[in-house]
This record gives sequence, structure tokens and C-alpha cells, in this order.
Amino acid sequence: NNMFAETVGEEHGYTKADVDSMKERVIAGHKAIRAAKEAGDLGFMELPESHKAIAKEIKEYADANKDKYDNFVVLGIGGSALGNIALQTALNHPYYNLNKEARNGYPRLFVPDNVDPTRLKGLLETLDLSRTVFNVISKSGGTAETMSQFLTARAMVVEELGEDAVGNHFIATTSQHSGNLIKIAKEEGMKTYYIPENVGGRFSVMTPVGLISAAFTGIDIEELLAGAAYMDEICNTDDLWKNPAYLNAVLQYLADQDGKPMSVMMPYAHDLKDLADWYRQLWAESLGKKYDRQGKVVNVGPTPVKALGATDQHSQAQLYMEGPFDKVVTFLEVDNYKETLEIAPGYKDISGVSYLGGHTFNELLTVEKKATELALVDNNRLNCTVTFPEVNAFTIGQFFYMYELSTALMGEFYDINAFDQPGVELGKQYAYGVLEREGFAEMKEKFDARPKK
Ligand code: PA5
Repeated sequence: NNMFAETVGEEHGYTKADVDSMKERVIAGHKAIRAAKEAGDLGFMELPESHKAIAKEIKEYADANKDKYDNFVVLGIGGSALGNIALQTALNHPYYNLNKEARNGYPRLFVPDNVDPTRLKGLLETLDLSRTVFNVISKSGGTAETMSQFLTARAMVVEELGEDAVGNHFIATTSQHSGNLIKIAKEEGMKTYYIPENVGGRFSVMTPVGLISAAFTGIDIEELLAGAAYMDEICNTDDLWKNPAYLNAVLQYLADQDGKPMSVMMPYAHDLKDLADWYRQLWAESLGKKYDRQGKVVNVGPTPVKALGATDQHSQAQLYMEGPFDKVVTFLEVDNYKETLEIAPGYKDISGVSYLGGHTFNELLTVEKKATELALVDNNRLNCTVTFPEVNAFTIGQFFYMYELSTALMGEFYDINAFDQPGVELGKQYAYGVLEREGFAEMKEKFDARPKK
């Protein structure tokens, strides 16, 4: 870990004593987190256990139905999409959709996520709808982006295959007790899965939100939950030196309080790149808050940034090395990549090229990471590394859980509610108002009264 003063110089690092100065706050935070779990307020902590049986059922459902479909499409946004993307990129073949052999009988996966008209139209007109199933994911059951995607996909299915086909081509993943999606799903005879009320969107990857598309693409979702359960066990201690989620939170918090609010996550493995996107949402939406729990305006929250090694060495690294002292870089590194690829030898007489031959791409990427790390240290830049022995469902489950728990402790440090998202809701409500959704007239009035350009 290169966030300690011994390594990086007094000016921009932390001593063991700095970390230990957070001990009491960690102990108090741990107590509060465990009490909230007991009270049923931290649903994400229950998932490794509570979703074991659900994962089994989803796996059986996916295996029994996968042959009916060539395409599995997730309709959702934010916490209802990013986990699906992260899982697919991390655990399936890099060209899964293009490579039939790699798919091993499972359907292709598409997560349009956005409501860009060009992209969505392009997707819908490309797919053979008779061989496509859509998972409509919305906890609130009303998010404009998701519901407009659903309306459009449904209309196309009805036009091509008839009203009766809807139940066979749409799954609904939503709240069991509230929102419009559950009503629609029941009316249409859609298969339904539920998002527990006490699990927020960005904490829901290990509910049916992330598990269904993963199971339909052959990912071992039971291992994913086992990884999370393992991390939960490790992290059930208030000793911050033994608890990776808490140590991570302490280091990130110290950095933020010390004028380094930019928290860069930089995987050195392409399959981990969308974990950084998932992390970006988790950190931003959970920790970026105006009010503390007493209602005082605090305007807190680090800014999560995603980068990718080695690609961003040639884009962002210059800034990270020599720009403002406002960042902490978290590298994600992999001990054993899924594949080994040799760099072909050649041009023996040109030493500036031939030295590469005989090495592997694995070595090259690993060396690039270590070189970037050392260059950051030389420049007194804070950085730390999360190491994956290998990228598999078990380690990815650990990663998700560790960061979710870190987020909960960060919430304790900032004394904020890390589990709501009033800023996001406000934007949604303005959009509903402008689009004239019933009940949001006041938002439209406010919108119309906004200062003109
Ligand atoms: O984390 C969150 O709560 C949000 O990002 C939501 O996931 C996102 O806004 C989508 O909401 P919903 O699932 O209700 O459609």
C-alpha cells in the first residue's frame, strides 16, 4: 500500500498513527452498521445468505429457458444496469456476443442502459424479437428511461408476435409491493422477480437485478454470492487492520479530508474495467450528499473517477503524476489473467523492437502497472492496490461486497445517509413534470419558471 508516509514522503502520505487515529470511529461505525443490519436497514448485507435459494432458483430458470432465446436484453438504468454490465465484462468471454462457442448455448446479452434514440432503435431493429427476452428492471417501477424502453420494446413485440407473446418475452424485476411495473407484470403474465425493499439500486447487483442476466449468460451466480459471504465473514470485525473494507474506507476518507477528493479506480485488466463504472456510481450516489443526518448542510463526498491501465497511461497518467495533489489512485491488479498470450518474436536486428519478443502480454501489462505505481510514488502521489488472485465469480462477489461495506462505513464517517439519493430523485421529478406525468405538475411549474438563457 503506497498511501503511507514511510513510502511516499511526509508531505502526502499517512503514518500508521494517522490510520490508528481513526480506530475509535471505526469501532463506532462498525457498531452502527451491525445495529442497522440487525434492524433490517442494510439489506445488502443480508443478500449473501438470503439470496442463496433465490440464486439457485434463478439458475434453474435460466438453464431451463435459455434455449428459447438468442438474445437477453436488460432494460434498466443506473443501479438497475451497471452491475449487469460489470458482471458480463468481468466474467464472460471478451467477445461473448460475437463468439458462439464461448456462449456455450447461452443467449447474447445487451444492456442498452441509456435512452439514446439512435442506439436503442439500432438495437431493436437488429434483434430477432421472436428469439429475444427482455428483463425490465426498475425498483421504483416508474423510471422514465426504463419504462419508455419497455413501452417501445413491448409495442414492437406485440406488432411482430401478438399480444399473447408479451408474457414469454418480458421478465419484470421490481419492488414486490409498489410501483407500476409490478401491476403491469401481473396483468401481462410476466415472470417476476423482486428487489428487496431494503436494498437500494446501486447495492442490488447480487439480487435478481444482476443475477438473472448473469445466470442467462452462464455465470456461476452461486459462487458470486459465496464470494460475498466470504468477504462478509472477513469483515465482521472492528479491527481496521484486519478488515479490508474498513481499511479502504479509512484511507479514502483520510485522503478526502486531506484535500484529495478525486478517487481514481484504475484496473489493469480489461475485464475489470466496468467494475470501475459500478464503483463510480456506488461512491458518487451514496457519498455525495448535501445534508448530514442532523440536517446540517455539509456538501460532502469524494469524486470517483474511472480509468483503465494501460490505456489511460497514455491519456490520464500525466495529470495523475504531475497535476494537482488532489487524487488517490486505486489500482485493481490481477495475479493470474484468464489467458496467457506470448508476444511474437521478430526483427532480431532491431533491438528497440526485438526485446519484446518472448515476453508475454501478461508480463507487459503487469510491468506497466508496477511502473506506473512507482512513478506515482516517485511523484509523492497516493495510491493503493486491490489484488485479484484471479478474476472469477468468487473474487468478484468479494469485491462487490467489500466496496458496499466500505461505502457504509464512509457514510458513518461523513455522518450522512449513504442509502438515499435525493439529488437523483429531484432530476427524475423535473423530468416527470416536463413530460406531464400525473402528480408532478408542480415540478413542471418550477421548470417553466427557471431562468431563461
Ligand atoms: O442507485 C439507485 O438508487 C439509482 O441509481 C437507481 O438504480 C436508478 O435511478 C434506477 O432506478 P429504478 O430501479 O427505480 O428504475
